[in-house]
Amino acid sequence: MRSLMFFTAVAAAVPALAQPAPAPTTVASPDGALVLTVATDNDQRPTWSLSRKGQLLIAPSKLGFILTDRIGLQRGFAIESVERATGDATWELPWGERRFVRDRHEELLVRFRQNESWGGHLMNVRFRLFDDGIGFRYELPEQPGLTTANIADELTEFDIAPAGTAWWIPGGEWNRYEQVYQETPIEGVATAHTPMTIRLADGTHMAFHEAALVDYAGMWLKRAEGRKFRATLSPSSQGPRVVRDLPFATPWRTIRITDNAAGLVESDLELNLNEPNKLGDTSWFKPMKYVGIWWGMIRGDWSWAEGPKHGATTERTKATIDFAAKHGFGGVLVEGWNKGWNGNWFGHGDEYSFTQATPDFDLKGVTDYARKKGVQLIGHHETGGNIAVYEAQLDDAMKLYGQLGVGTVKTGYVADAGGIIAPGDTPGETRMEWHDGQRQVQHHLKVVETAAKYRVAVNPHEPVKDTGLRRTYPNWVAREGARGMEYNAWGAFANGPEHEPTLVYTRMLSGPMDFTPGVLSLEGANKAPLASTLAKQLGLYLAIYSPIQMAADFPESLAAHPRELDFIKRVPADWAESRLIAGAVGDYAIFARKDRRGADWYVGGVNDGTARTLDLAFDFLEPGKTYTATIYKDGEGATYLTDARHKIAYETIKVKKGDTYKLWLAPGAGAAIRLAPAK
Ligand code: NOJ
Ligand code: CA
Repeated sequence: MRSLMFFTAVAAAVPALAQPAPAPTTVASPDGALVLTVATDNDQRPTWSLSRKGQLLIAPSKLGFILTDRIGLQRGFAIESVERATGDATWELPWGERRFVRDRHEELLVRFRQNESWGGHLMNVRFRLFDDGIGFRYELPEQPGLTTANIADELTEFDIAPAGTAWWIPGGEWNRYEQVYQETPIEGVATAHTPMTIRLADGTHMAFHEAALVDYAGMWLKRAEGRKFRATLSPSSQGPRVVRDLPFATPWRTIRITDNAAGLVESDLELNLNEPNKLGDTSWFKPMKYVGIWWGMIRGDWSWAEGPKHGATTERTKATIDFAAKHGFGGVLVEGWNKGWNGNWFGHGDEYSFTQATPDFDLKGVTDYARKKGVQLIGHHETGGNIAVYEAQLDDAMKLYGQLGVGTVKTGYVADAGGIIAPGDTPGETRMEWHDGQRQVQHHLKVVETAAKYRVAVNPHEPVKDTGLRRTYPNWVAREGARGMEYNAWGAFANGPEHEPTLVYTRMLSGPMDFTPGVLSLEGANKAPLASTLAKQLGLYLAIYSPIQMAADFPESLAAHPRELDFIKRVPADWAESRLIAGAVGDYAIFARKDRRGADWYVGGVNDGTARTLDLAFDFLEPGKTYTATIYKDGEGATYLTDARHKIAYETIKVKKGDTYKLWLAPGAGAAIRLAPAK
């Protein structure tokens, strides 16, 4: 495996010489379908536009910045020169939805120069066209008169030409990304987080996002008028939303553009726009499934804080380790193990210690015990959003976990009443920042890099969105960044049945999610029912990818469902291939995924609130082989709406490539199939 990590360049990028460019300048994707035009308008503002197969998708849209110090990077520009390059390489993901990723693109670097009356500044924009979309970023080169860019906002526009439907969540809201997705005409979007997904009348799918968000503010999409959007950056307490010394490059602004939903979901566009692995060998991180001391706290049965209901006791942890060892789970998450939980979520985390355990939790004892049993503890750092307190302890905290063999840490930034509390410029002082502002973006990378030093992988909750950085930092294994399973603990049908079939085509385009499936009891606190059949809890392992997949329910509840537990034990968290074999945005999603370590295929996914029957084609199987298909599907009469949500049916049949299977999906349902080569 390790030797293949550097299996990369099939053909390296081929740069060409700078050449004078008559405006407008065009470049096409490798297959010729996408054509980009870069020009300047009557006000000498840089613009870009994009068509696909002759249809205009993005009408001329402006490029540029507003800086806070009256230096304008807006008008008076002309194209000075362009540079073209082409790339075609295949590289390997150390873990993921697939093993090999092809990066085939055409590149156009456009150098804009401003006339002297506007300031005479230089601004380069690098575009990359793939068959499945486009990415572009600004590169501000070293230049006289501009050493630091104090960015008030970006002027980047996306003027979507055709009408369509959008799936989106509001940007800049108090609850970060933990929102219910809206489905509206494009004209109905206000300010959206990315990824924002759009389907046009002719079936073309587009998803707007960004790649390689490093030392910059997260981008929201603000609808200016009609179907025209403008990038707006997450704010900062310091005035400028981004402060960067030149030279620097912004994150890539990206659009996946595909003929259908499968193309959208299977695209690796953002990963291709991230830098290769900077950490070297990270094979110390092993994809795994895990259980934990968690659902009891989320439901309110136990507490994170010390006291009579304290969840994280030595005894309960050892019992959970026993359960994990017996059933082959790689990890046990323990939350509330440390000092400083005072029961006040909005107390700003001043008291958290990330090295000291509560008196009833023997950290060394349980990690020794876990090691003997071949299980790893999954650590937990809830910060309450107080990164000032966390950063002061960060190195010690990661070192401790590294020493104890705690290979993964879940972090948390619950700060619903405000934002992040970051260290200020004066020692001891703090300032409030956004969850996705430049300061917090810096913080997340600092955590990931510090963790890597001690061979620890990171899974942040209340994170900044994923922009493909797992390619560069493969220990950044998962994150939350949407409404996860936890919401179902807090009310009946809290995540409606369309939630997960929407996540697949929106949030999940950005990267792995620690959704925490596997609540087989199908109930939260006070018997609040989940919008889920039993089979859907298994289907979630195929629908929502993460290299660490939880079985979130209490061990007793998992054990009470031996057949379902058997599936969860077997389903991999690391794949050689992944394909969407049936699906529509917001309606349903069925994947076929191949185990990275064996010959088995798995098929499964989720449905919304409408029952439907699918003809699944087993086209992906290896020809000439017979497979035994173990099927978990909704029982007759199943529906998430009543107790019939517990009805499940099992079937075992033989299938081969070319066969089809009629799968009935109940309202709020899902299904899961394991396909093993027949002996
Ligand atoms: C919210 C997270 O999403 C949840 O998983 C965690 O248990 C709590 N915060 C406490 O950190
Ligand atoms: Ca959360």
